[in-house]
Amino acid sequence: MELIKSTLIFSSLLLSVFAQKPSVSVEPRTVAVRQDETVSIRCRVTGGAQPVQLEWKRANNQPLADNVKVGPDGSVLTIALARPSNQGQYRCIATNSQGKSTVMATLTVKQPPKVRVTPASQVKVKVGGITSLQCHASGKPRPSITWFKQEAGRELVLVSTTTGTSLTAKVTVSSPQDGGTFVCRAQNKDGTSEEKVELKVEGGAIEPKATVHQTDMTAVEGQTVTMHCQASGSPTPVITWSKLRAPLPWQHKAEGGTLTLSNVGRQDSGQYICNATNSVGFSEAYVQMEVDTRPYATTVPDHVTARRGDSVRVQCIAHGSHPISFHWSRVGGAAMSSGAKVTKEGVLTIGQLKPSDSGTYKCVATNHIGNSETFTTVTVRE
Ligand SMILES: *[C@@H]1O[C@H](CO)[C@@H](O)[C@H](O)[C@H]1NC(C)=O
Repeated sequence: MELIKSTLIFSSLLLSVFAQKPSVSVEPRTVAVRQDETVSIRCRVTGGAQPVQLEWKRANNQPLADNVKVGPDGSVLTIALARPSNQGQYRCIATNSQGKSTVMATLTVKQPPKVRVTPASQVKVKVGGITSLQCHASGKPRPSITWFKQEAGRELVLVSTTTGTSLTAKVTVSSPQDGGTFVCRAQNKDGTSEEKVELKVEGGAIEPKATVHQTDMTAVEGQTVTMHCQASGSPTPVITWSKLRAPLPWQHKAEGGTLTLSNVGRQDSGQYICNATNSVGFSEAYVQMEVDTRPYATTVPDHVTARRGDSVRVQCIAHGSHPISFHWSRVGGAAMSSGAKVTKEGVLTIGQLKPSDSGTYKCVATNHIGNSETFTTVTVRE
């Protein structure tokens, strides 16, 4: 009895299998490929009355794209060099004498991100203005988007989102420094894409103004002299140094606003010019520098011959920093003649010459740095 029952059940099962619509499955049911990859989806008949005919269609009933091919027995669908438009659902339709059944497969085409920025490539903004930089990003999966500013080789992040299709960066321009290169970057696990926009700041540039710490300087020969110059302005001015009507001393070093002169001599005295230049204009500031030097004295003439009763005149001349005072005396300790007179300018005159006035005379020229000696000989003939 039991046996008959189970045989019946079995044969009706068998019957129902053969007298049924086809059953089908697909492998894989969902598949994700990168753009330009090739993938196949197989449709398999798992039951139903034979013969079963297979065909593939798009779920939206659009015709298959020209890179999508179906194998000879209708079971294998191949998408060669996948492109974004291939993405979607595909139906495998199985038909037999009893009817139809369908099964769906889903294809995702992954895309590396693509970005587009507006405004494109360049935007001009006036000082005091605000601008919105927009970035639109496509890609599958949805990329992360970041706006950043390139500054001194670094990336200064302005805004970012972990996933999205667009991102806006608001930039407030309050000085020319707020301009520069702004970059939008979109990134997903399939790639990275970026676009740049150059923000140019209009107006707001300020003419340079150069100022020196000291307009008058003095130094003693041999010393090192340092001059400082500061410049305001926008863009930041570049400072150069020069000397009025002469080249800069050989032993100089100019570094930004600082000019250093080492081992100065008298010839380094003069007017130094700090020149601050930017795109708007230039500004000059002057430093008058004097190098103090010890006197260097000579006598004119250095030898004089005269007769008794005549008079002689000898001048002591000194180069060096003023004021210079002169002192005449006799070498060997003899007293000056009663007819001798000395002026502030260093002129020695001796009237009513006597033979005893013969000898060597010394002039000492002195300033606040030091002194210098020079000699002249006087010979009185009978
Ligand atoms: C300062 O720089 C400007 C612009 O470069 C130039 O025209 C001017 O002659 C310079 N002045 C001096 C003193 O060098």
